[in-house]
Amino acid sequence: MKKSIETERLLLRELQMSDVDGMFELDSNPNVHLFVGKKPVKSIEESIGYIENVQQQYKDFGTGRWAVILKETNEFLGWSGIKFITNEINNHKDFYEIGYRFIEKHWGKGYATEAGKVFVDYAFNELKADALYAYADEGNENSRKILEKLGLRYINSFEYEGEFEVWYELKNPNLV
Ligand SMILES: CC(C)(COP(=O)(O)OP(=O)(O)OC[C@H]1O[C@@H](n2cnc3c(N)ncnc32)[C@H](O)[C@@H]1OP(=O)(O)O)[C@@H](O)C(=O)NCCC(=O)NCCS
Repeated sequence: MKKSIETERLLLRELQMSDVDGMFELDSNPNVHLFVGKKPVKSIEESIGYIENVQQQYKDFGTGRWAVILKETNEFLGWSGIKFITNEINNHKDFYEIGYRFIEKHWGKGYATEAGKVFVDYAFNELKADALYAYADEGNENSRKILEKLGLRYINSFEYEGEFEVWYELKNPNLV
């Protein structure tokens, strides 16, 4: 499996413990957490735990969220990537899901979409996923716009952990 990929502006690579300060800046911001459970982290230990958890996913499933780095400055912008989800969500279990989360000052520059395109390709051509899924809070317009730009299609709305969610799907075009 690949461990890093470059785009025009971005370096995408596996998360490292040295990303912890960036992860804490990302996840301690309540605005970032508005549509992802409203539980921003309070301590750096929580960010350390998050990175350890993702690194375990690399070992268990060969995939997990990756760091997104701005090549020009070497800054940590946030994360994106494909997670293998083993619990049941919207009647699906053991599926590949695309997600992204960026530090607020880096929103509105197209980075999430630029990284997301790579991970759609990665899901189908490296992981050989039959289909790629995503879900978002119903009101998360910025996230829904990205999913549509990436070619995912709205399927249904459902309730999950007390929130109204929307479910998106893209079948592997190589298998259709
Ligand atoms: C969701 C999230 C990643 C969206 O980030 P984003 O920066 O708006 O998304 P994109 O990368 O697609 O950027 C699109 C914007 O950049 C603008 N842009 C600027 N330069 C651009 C460029 N060179 N190329 C493409 N778009 C560019 C676009 O016009 C667009 O702005 P608009 O929405 O006003 O039309 C971000 O809001 C976030 O991290 N939120 C918190 C976590 C979260 O909710 N995650 C999703 C959970 S489901």
